Amino acid sequence: MTNPTAAALLARSNRLGADPKNTNYAGGNTSAKGTETDPVTGQPVELLWVKGSGGDLGTLTEQGLAVLRLDRMRALVNVYPGVDREDEMVAAFDYCLHGKGGAAPSIDTAMHGLVDAAHVDHLHPDSGIAIATAADGPALTAKIFGEKVVWVPWRRPGFQLGLDIAEIKAQHPDAVGCILGGHGITAWGETSEESEANSLWIIDTAAEYIAAHGKTAPFGGIRSGFERLPDAERRTRAAALAATIRGVASHDKPMVGHFTDAEVVTDFLASEKAPELAALGTSCPDHFLRTKVKPLILDLPATASVDEQIARLHELHAEYREDYQSYYDAYATTSSPAIRGADPLIVLIPGVGMFSYGANKQTARVAGEFYVNAINVMRGAEALSTYSPISDAEKFRIEYWALEEAKLQRMPKPKSHQGRIAFVTGAASGIGKAIATRLAAEGACVVVADLDLEKAQAAAAELGNTDVAIGVAANVADADAVQAALDEAVLAFGGVDLIVNNAGLSLSKSLLETTEKDWDLQHDVMAKGSFLVSKAAAKILIEQKLGGDIIYISSKNSVFAGPNNIAYSATKADQAHQVRLLAVELGEFGIRVNGINPDGVVRGSGIFASGWGANRAATYGVAEEDLGQFYANRTILKREVVPENVADAVFVLTGPELSRTTGLHIPVDSGVAAAFLR
Ligand SMILES: NC(=O)c1ccc[n+]([C@@H]2O[C@H](COP(=O)([O-])OP(=O)(O)OC[C@H]3O[C@@H](n4cnc5c(N)ncnc54)[C@H](O)[C@@H]3O)[C@@H](O)[C@H]2O)c1
Ligand SMILES: [Zn+2]
Repeated sequence: MTNPTAAALLARSNRLGADPKNTNYAGGNTSAKGTETDPVTGQPVELLWVKGSGGDLGTLTEQGLAVLRLDRMRALVNVYPGVDREDEMVAAFDYCLHGKGGAAPSIDTAMHGLVDAAHVDHLHPDSGIAIATAADGPALTAKIFGEKVVWVPWRRPGFQLGLDIAEIKAQHPDAVGCILGGHGITAWGETSEESEANSLWIIDTAAEYIAAHGKTAPFGGIRSGFERLPDAERRTRAAALAATIRGVASHDKPMVGHFTDAEVVTDFLASEKAPELAALGTSCPDHFLRTKVKPLILDLPATASVDEQIARLHELHAEYREDYQSYYDAYATTSSPAIRGADPLIVLIPGVGMFSYGANKQTARVAGEFYVNAINVMRGAEALSTYSPISDAEKFRIEYWALEEAKLQRMPKPKSHQGRIAFVTGAASGIGKAIATRLAAEGACVVVADLDLEKAQAAAAELGNTDVAIGVAANVADADAVQAALDEAVLAFGGVDLIVNNAGLSLSKSLLETTEKDWDLQHDVMAKGSFLVSKAAAKILIEQKLGGDIIYISSKNSVFAGPNNIAYSATKADQAHQVRLLAVELGEFGIRVNGINPDGVVRGSGIFASGWGANRAATYGVAEEDLGQFYANRTILKREVVPENVADAVFVLTGPELSRTTGLHIPVDSGVAAAFLR
């Protein structure tokens, strides 16, 4: 059963974390001290419950808490070897754990354990960090809060910062908390309610002071030509630039992207001060660990052409990389971890918005959220004073901190398709849905494209939230619709890497029965549809410079002359030849083009359910429900083919194992000798 002190702590943490004004996502930590009966002695034991490393306050559960014995935690003060060796104390926390100890203690544990208050909240509110990053932060703190809140000069989080805060609390009995220079706030109380009230009071008082006393235009005037573009133009421009910008962010490692055109971003980018403020970078450690020390900001107006902007982005990228390398070289020591890549994680396009990047969609989205936090911080700091983040040297000490590196090393190995963005046509049903499901399970972000938006969205929702998959409407036979769907894909995930031309339908008719309309429909959806999708997608793949995969779901019928099948089989043969043609044409860009020839996939197939199955059954003289087994019996392996078997083939073709294969068709048909390829 949860200890009542821990239960109150969880409730308070969830309330504080639920409101983004209080702290950034996964930022900050909270604690409570209380007693429990020690199962070994039967005597009461004093414990510290503190949010462990990782996780978010808003959704914190008991599993996310580290539990330490207070007597042992406090005893660490006696063996503390000094600030130069403070990192050693993190390992020492393991010797203070109560029972199995719960979650891993975070670097902020000392602050919670050493401060002499029963309840402590450490938070990263935009309003508080605005004061913490103001050039005259100490004076402002005194002016705004009087004796109740004390300024603590910047210090990298750790044991010494915990000792500093404990000392300050001891010396200021009237204080309810402190502003941590360059970083955030810490508040305390004798009860959980008191700590929460003190946290909220500091956050609200800072925000109200900024609102009442701040300048009206903290970012200066508007730069002409840099204003927010009208809605439609903004999205078109963002989509037109997305592939290039993803390439910029992914030079060292493929990244997933997130785009926002929130007004808070475009207003900042339109302002006079945006370039100089962006160059100063973010300040709160949580922020710059996710956003990199500074963003890349395009210095052309929104009125420039797409081509001009693309050319300039490439120049700025080269400068950014040099600049980041110099930053690394300036501060790295022989014991520093290796450079982790020199590409920007935040790219700002005036008039349009912000692209943010991460190893997966959630990380990319959160990086963007953190830069919005940073904009709010800069606005607050500039409203009252001058924004003055911590120095690059200190940022480096955090970014390349051995403890930070250890955290990264502990991260689980990424799945095979993590960082890849798949666009699967006809993915609301049958084979396409199985492919989308498999790719999502392997870590890819998936765009489910199908005729019916609702069906596409429903299929996407089955795969996970919108960080995993989205549904878009696209009739692949319509060039504009294809372009619009790919625009949505790049705006949702930053780009595309893996295209599956799967959309299809089938009419089984003899030559004399096949109408011109039948012929056109089959060819429009399959031959033309996959041509249109490949064409629009290849433009993105080429601009990204990250290679890619195009997969065609052709058919056994592309090589096998089955009965009553002129239009379908002819268009399948067309698709199969597109594979070979495009494999040759796109190879120089690292794009591999391969196909799959399935056969007899009855289960789950809309094609079979909607007449084709009945027709085939009649053609072969078997009952419709026996069709799957009928197909199986005429194969070499005598095994039924299911949609997942086709999905497995897509996984293998697009995974790391067949990296030297292009122009290939894999039969997934349980063996049909008449359709053997040669
Ligand atoms: N089922 C089989 O035995 C078999 C065998 C060989 C090849 N194939 C091919 O596999 C692919 C998928 O077939 P399935 O059996 O899963 O069928 P299905 O009917 O279950 O799925 C096809 C999907 O494509 C969508 N679609 C149709 N026209 C579209 C258009 N113009 N734009 C966008 N989406 C469109 C449909 O809405 C549907 O969701 C097809 O290309 C088919 O020819 C299937
Ligand atoms: Zn912090």
